[in-house]
Amino acid sequence: MTVTAEGTGQVAAPPPIAMLAELTHRCPLACPYCSNPLELARANEELSTSEWIETFRQAAALGVLHLHLSGGEPASRRDLIDLTKAAVSLGLYTNLITSGLGLTEARVDKLSAAGLDHVQLSIQGTRAPGADHVAGYDGGHARKMAVAGWLRNAGIPLTLNAVCHRRNMGEIEDIISLAVELGARRVEIATVQFHGWAMLNQKALMPTMDQVAKATSIVETMRARLEGALVIDYIPADYYATYPKACMGGWGRAGFNVTPSGRVLPCHAAETIKHLAFDNVRARPLGEIWYNGGAFNAFRGDGWMPEPCRSCERKDIDFGGCRCQAMALAGDASATDPVCRKSPHRKAVDRRIIDNTEVNDTEVRDIEVSDIETPLPPFRYRG
Ligand code: SF4
Ligand code: FES
Repeated sequence: MTVTAEGTGQVAAPPPIAMLAELTHRCPLACPYCSNPLELARANEELSTSEWIETFRQAAALGVLHLHLSGGEPASRRDLIDLTKAAVSLGLYTNLITSGLGLTEARVDKLSAAGLDHVQLSIQGTRAPGADHVAGYDGGHARKMAVAGWLRNAGIPLTLNAVCHRRNMGEIEDIISLAVELGARRVEIATVQFHGWAMLNQKALMPTMDQVAKATSIVETMRARLEGALVIDYIPADYYATYPKACMGGWGRAGFNVTPSGRVLPCHAAETIKHLAFDNVRARPLGEIWYNGGAFNAFRGDGWMPEPCRSCERKDIDFGGCRCQAMALAGDASATDPVCRKSPHRKAVDRRIIDNTEVNDTEVRDIEVSDIETPLPPFRYRG
């Protein structure tokens, strides 16, 4: 049920269900589509152990059920076990989103003993040379495979995560097979979203129409084949879609992110909307930020919506799409998501598809990432 935030006249959401804690921006990998901002938080800015635990406590009191421990690489935090224990003791369902780098067998056992509920392990591909090239880290893929084995031995439920893009879309069937082999319960294959680092690398990452069609067909076939054995979550390429997704389940409706230094964001890319100011858990209680914070109320309800969204029958399904994408492509965070076919800015998406997929499509089909040299531009790795 949607309610009005007391005393503000603004439309607020129900209590949040999920919090994503970006424990740190530090990470040994350098993925060119990293969801962290271009300007990374420094280690000395990070919330302390006690500040994080207090934030978890406030989140649980607010109604949060799911806590995603993320980064950067959350295993870069020495206090990861203590943070997990504290979250579990608060009754939060704990999900560790990790590259696996920084985990040892002993640490996995301690996380299991701490009560960690679930792990999402990211991979960059299924073959070491190509996967390591994407991650910018030699030996990373082999390490991830070892971590998957330790997680299985510890009995921690596993989801395998892969961001797919122009250079690895030919591996989708292999990614799904690898998930089965590693004993994962789910595999999440998300087509790259163009914010931040991924936008910088758009020419190297944009899938072609042909790749997108093949990927969809493979996912459908594999879903039928593996029904009951593996759940396949697939997030298709939204530039090729007719309507946008309900990004974050709607702005300020279902969950929020906390950055390493304590800023509370409606989504991971929200800081690209420069006119918004974001509250910090060091200065304001989480409940006040969620219900009354200016950034959270900026795009709740439909009062902010322009046409065609305001009178559209889908406005309660996708909430006008992604605010950050509107900012990036239309220069206006209040605009209809340009992915939408009804958007007056749709040509900005079509132009990017054309500009970024013209180069040598035949050379990027069904071949190993490591075989691709030119003409795709080299990655600009995250710093
Ligand atoms: Fe969604 Fe707005 Fe497009 Fe309607 S016009 S489908 S609400 S983005
Ligand atoms: Fe910010 Fe979609 S990424 S609203």
